[in-house]
Amino acid sequence: AAPLRLGLAGLGTVGIGVVKIVQKHADLIAARAGRPVTITAVSARDRSRNRDADLSGYAWETDPVALAKRDDVDVFVEVMGGHEGPAKLATEAALATGKDVVTANKALLAHHGQILAETAEAAGRVIRFEAAVAGGIPVIKALTEGLAANQMRRVMGVMNGTCNYILTRMQNAGLPYETVFEEARQLGYLEADPNLDVGGIDAGHKLSLLAAIAFGTKVSFDRVELEGIGNVSIEDIRMADDMGYHIKLLGVAQMTGRGLEQRMTPCLVPAESPLGQLQGGTNMVVLEGDSVGQIVLRGPGAGEGPTASAVMADVIDLARGFRLSTFGRPATSLVEPVAAKSATP
Ligand code: NDP
Ligand code: HSE
Repeated sequence: AAPLRLGLAGLGTVGIGVVKIVQKHADLIAARAGRPVTITAVSARDRSRNRDADLSGYAWETDPVALAKRDDVDVFVEVMGGHEGPAKLATEAALATGKDVVTANKALLAHHGQILAETAEAAGRVIRFEAAVAGGIPVIKALTEGLAANQMRRVMGVMNGTCNYILTRMQNAGLPYETVFEEARQLGYLEADPNLDVGGIDAGHKLSLLAAIAFGTKVSFDRVELEGIGNVSIEDIRMADDMGYHIKLLGVAQMTGRGLEQRMTPCLVPAESPLGQLQGGTNMVVLEGDSVGQIVLRGPGAGEGPTASAVMADVIDLARGFRLSTFGRPATSLVEPVAAKSATP
C-alpha cells in the first residue's frame, strides 16, 4: 500500500521524538497500520542546530506554511507550539490544501479548536490531538472511543507534569521553588513560556479540551476558573502535610444545572489517596461515566518519548483510515457551555 507521508513542523522535544519512533519502529508501524509511514519533509527555525537525530533523508522547509502546503505531504504534524502565528497559519494552510492534521498543541486548540474543527469538517479533513492532553496517556481515545456509550458525569485530574513535579519536589525534598523549576526545565517539561505551566494555563487548556469531548460543548477555555501554583509556598505545603493533605493543581469539569463548570486550581487532597500520592511529572486523569463508573488513567504527561508515542498513535489511526471527528462528534453539533435560561421566570 502507498505510504502515509508526514510533514513534520517542529524538531524540538516532541518532533525529535516523532522522528525517532518513525525510524525505530518502521516495520512495526507498517504492520499495525497496514501501510508504511514516512516523513517526507521537516521544518524548524534553525537548520544548523544539532538535533540528536538523522534528518538527512528529509526535505527541509524553514517556513512551516510551505511545509503544510507541499504536495508530497498527506498529514501535517504540528509540534511547534503557540496559539497564534505559524502554528495556526500552517494548520489552516494544511486543511486548505487537503491534509489531515495531528497536533500536540493544546494552546492552539483551546483558543481556536472550534473554528479549526469546523474548517476541517467542511474540507473533509480531520484533526487529531491525543498528545495535547496528558502527554502519553491515551485519554482522548479513552473518552472518544472507549467511553463513547457513556453520559459523562465528570472529568478531573492532574494534567500538568511541571506543576506536579514542582509541588512534589518541594514537598519531598524541601527544595525551593527556583531549584525545582530549573530541574523541570532540564527534563524538557516546560512550555516555551513557563507561565503557561505555573500559571495553570496549560492545564486549563487541557481541561477545556476534555470538557468539550465529555459534554459535547464548544471548547470554552475562557470560562475555566484558573489559579496557578505561584502562590503556593513551602509553608503551605508543610501545613497541609501536618493535616494529612498534599497540595495538587487539580482540574475538575462537570455539567451542572447552570451549565458547564470548569476549575483548575491548587487543591488539598488526602495525602494517602491516589491523587495525593502522584509523584513527579506524572499525570492522572479520572473519568466518570454513567455506565462505566470511574476510570483512572495514570502515566507520563510530558517528555520526548511519551508525547511522541501519542502523536504517532494518531498518525497510525489516520494510516489505518480511522477518521474520527476532532471532538468525537461533528463540530457543528457542539453546544454553548452555558445552560439556556428558562423561558418562564
Ligand atoms: P520545543 O520548543 O522543544 O520545539 C519547538 C520546535 O518548533 C522547535 O524545533 C522550533 O524550531 C520549532 N519552531 C518554533 N517556532 C517556529 C517557527 N516560527 N517556525 C518554524 N519552526 C518553529 O517544543 P516541544 O517539542 O516541547 O513542544 C511542541 C508542542 O508540543 C507544543 O505545542 C507543546 O505544548 C506540545 N507538547 C509538549 C510536550 C512536552 O513534553 N514537551 C508534551 C505535550 C505537548 P528551532 O528548534 O529551530 O527553535
Ligand atoms: N508543559 C507541559 C506539562 C507539557 O508540564 O505538563 C505537557 O503538556
